[in-house]
Amino acid sequence: MLSLKAQSMTPSMTLGISTKVKEMKAQGIEITNLSIGEPDFYTPKNAKTAAEIAIKNNKTKYDAAAGLLELRKALSKKLLAENNLMYSPEEIVVSNGGKHAITNTLIALVDPGQEVIIPKPYWVSYPEMVKLTGGVPVLVDTKKENNFKITKDELKAAITDKTKAIFITNPSNPTGAVYTKEELTEIVDVCVENKIYILADELYERICYLDEFTSVASISDAAKEYTVTINGFSKSAAMTGWRLGYTATTKELAKAISGIQGHLVSHPCTIAQWAAVEVLNSCEGDMQKMVAAYRARRDEAVALFEEIPGLSLVQPDGAFYLFVDMSSIKDKLHYSDSFSMEVCNKLLEDHQLAVVPGVAFGNDDFIRISYAADINDIKAGIEKIKNFVSGFNL
Ligand SMILES: Cc1ncc(COP(=O)(O)O)c(C=O)c1O
Repeated sequence: MLSLKAQSMTPSMTLGISTKVKEMKAQGIEITNLSIGEPDFYTPKNAKTAAEIAIKNNKTKYDAAAGLLELRKALSKKLLAENNLMYSPEEIVVSNGGKHAITNTLIALVDPGQEVIIPKPYWVSYPEMVKLTGGVPVLVDTKKENNFKITKDELKAAITDKTKAIFITNPSNPTGAVYTKEELTEIVDVCVENKIYILADELYERICYLDEFTSVASISDAAKEYTVTINGFSKSAAMTGWRLGYTATTKELAKAISGIQGHLVSHPCTIAQWAAVEVLNSCEGDMQKMVAAYRARRDEAVALFEEIPGLSLVQPDGAFYLFVDMSSIKDKLHYSDSFSMEVCNKLLEDHQLAVVPGVAFGNDDFIRISYAADINDIKAGIEKIKNFVSGFNL
C-alpha cells in the first residue's frame, strides 16, 4: 500500500530514546534531559505582543506565497547589515521553518536520480528529505582532525556527473563546528567550477562564538549565484513552534521556490510572520542575551569535559551542542547493532541521562549533548557521563 518513497524512509533513530524517556518520567523517575535541539528560552515578549496585535487587527487572511512583503523587506535589511549579502525581497521566500525552506529548495533544484552531497556527521533530516524529493543522498566521510568540516579534496572525490548540490551546515548540528572564510572559499571554488549548488544551512548563524561568521554566499558573486542561503527564527529567536524559516537566492530560483510553496501550503502563518517582523525590528537585545547564556554554558561544559579522562570533543564554536567522542570505551562495552545507541541506553537506564546517539547523525563513535538547558542540568549530566566512563577504568 505504501509508496516506494514512504518505504524508503529510515525510522527515527532517536524515537526509541524519547519513548523511553517518556515512559521513565511517567513512572516518576527524574531524567536529566540534554537531548533536546531547542532553545530553553521563551520567544521575546515584543514578538508575542506583535502576534497578539496582528490577531486583534484581523491580519489573519491569505497573503503573498513568498511571505509578507514587510517581513521580506526586513530580512533583506538584516542580510545586508549582518551577513554582507544583498538580496532583494523578490529573492527571499519565507517558509514554515528551516525544514520547509530546505524541502522547497530540494524540490526546486533536484531531479530524480541527481545526487546531493551530505558531509558526515549530518543533521538527521537531510538524507530523508533528499530521498523524499527524488534525489540520491551521497554521504561523505569527513575527519575528526578537521572538526568534521568537509575539505575541498573530500568534496572533489565525491563529485560525479550526477551531483547537483551539497549541504553545508554552518554552524553545525551536531558538532558545533564553524567554517572559516578560507575553508568556505575552497569549497565554493570547487562548487562553482563544477556547477554544484550550495545549500547553506545557516539556521544557527546567530549562535556563533567566533569574532567573525561568514555566510557562504558572501564569499563572491559566483558563490552567491550557486548558493541558497537557508535560515530561520527557530534557534536564533527561540521560535521553534512558530515555524518560520526562509531562503534567499537568485530571483529565478526564488520564483520557483515560491511557486512550489504556493501550491503546497500557500504561505506560512500570517500571524507568526508579523511576530517575526517585530523580532527583526526590536528583539536584538533578547537574542544577544540568549547567545551570551549559551556561550557561558559552552565554556563551563567544555571545561568540565576536559577533566574527564578518555573523552574528547569537536571544537564547539557555534550552535548549542557538544559532539563527544566515546570511542575510547568502544571495545569495553558489549553492543549488538549500534555502539552509540548502547551508550545512550546505558546512560538513560543506569544514570537517568538522556542524550542523542551519534549514529542518528551518521557517526556511531559519538554522542550529542545539548546545552540548551539549565546550567545545573548541564553540570549534573556531565557528572553522570563522568561516572559512567569511570566504570571503564580508562
Ligand atoms: C541544522 C538544522 N537545520 C534545519 C533545522 C530545522 O529548523 P526548523 O525547526 O526551523 O524547521 C534544524 C532544527 O533542528 C537544524 O538543526
